[in-house]
Amino acid sequence: MFPVHRPRRLRRTPMMRDMVRETHLRPEDFVYPLFVQETSPKPEPIQAMPGQSRHTIDSLVAEVEKSAEAGLKAVLLFGIPKEKDEQGTGAFIDDGIVQKAVRAIKEKKLPIAVITDVCMCEYTSHGHCGEIVDGDVHNDKSLELITRTAVSQARAGADIVAPSDMMDGRVGAIRGALDEAGFDQVAILSYAAKYASAFYGPFREAAGSAPQFGDRQSYQMDPANVLEALKEVDTDIAEGADMVMVKPALAYLDVIRAVRERTNLPVAAYNVSGEYAMIEFAAKAGVLDRDRIIREVLLSIKRAGADLILTYHSLEMAQKLK
Ligand code: PBG
Repeated sequence: MFPVHRPRRLRRTPMMRDMVRETHLRPEDFVYPLFVQETSPKPEPIQAMPGQSRHTIDSLVAEVEKSAEAGLKAVLLFGIPKEKDEQGTGAFIDDGIVQKAVRAIKEKKLPIAVITDVCMCEYTSHGHCGEIVDGDVHNDKSLELITRTAVSQARAGADIVAPSDMMDGRVGAIRGALDEAGFDQVAILSYAAKYASAFYGPFREAAGSAPQFGDRQSYQMDPANVLEALKEVDTDIAEGADMVMVKPALAYLDVIRAVRERTNLPVAAYNVSGEYAMIEFAAKAGVLDRDRIIREVLLSIKRAGADLILTYHSLEMAQKLK
């Protein structure tokens, strides 16, 4: 040991540190989640997520163009419909907001993949992720709405569909429906281990998707569990998932690591709205060095084992890394 070993030798200069760095961030690592709405003719800033907006189709397309330019390889779309109803019809109609947005992006023929979030909560009047029967979300009835949504997004041109509803059997149901409709090349990024988390708060303000009664604990996972996450990952893979996701990221780094060790599929992690908001508001208050914190957080998620990171800091980071 000491004095033979002096680990500080390799930390002495920036060149030395660059040579031995184990984890690197690249624009290809990031997926940029974006909100598109049809409730206002102008983009609307999201108060709870400084720097992010609910886009119009035009401002969305401009943001996606910038993203492709910066070297990002994928965006993830969330829609905010004009009207909500019991069944969340706006999620699967042919001229739904996300369907229109996907077509508008695809027309530009940009070198960037389009991922669509498959879920009912932004579209239902009650704000839950599926169909309500006797006061709870009915699993198998919800699958019908969810598969219709995935197929209509694929028809609009989505490259990857990402179900985030946490119903049982959804990956298999979506895979079957996509194949039957001729979309066997559309991939599924499954939100396999999605926890019932308080970190989604700002998103629910952004998307207007807070449940009107109760909470999501009967379908999203208990934050205390990690074996259950592996069970969810196993079943989603058996049902045909192409990639699996852990969500949120920062409070679940151990889960990301466990999933990484479990599968050889690409693993994604969602650095969610609350994680974003904590950094932005702390930086505004002058208590954190924003730029360094963003890098440190993203590095930690990658080091934990994520191949892809869904983060609202994607565009900024890609521009900085270029
Ligand atoms: C839809 C969905 C949510 C998020 C992504 N998809 C919200 C929720 O489950 O309540 C959260 C994303 C974020 O917080 O950034 N089910």
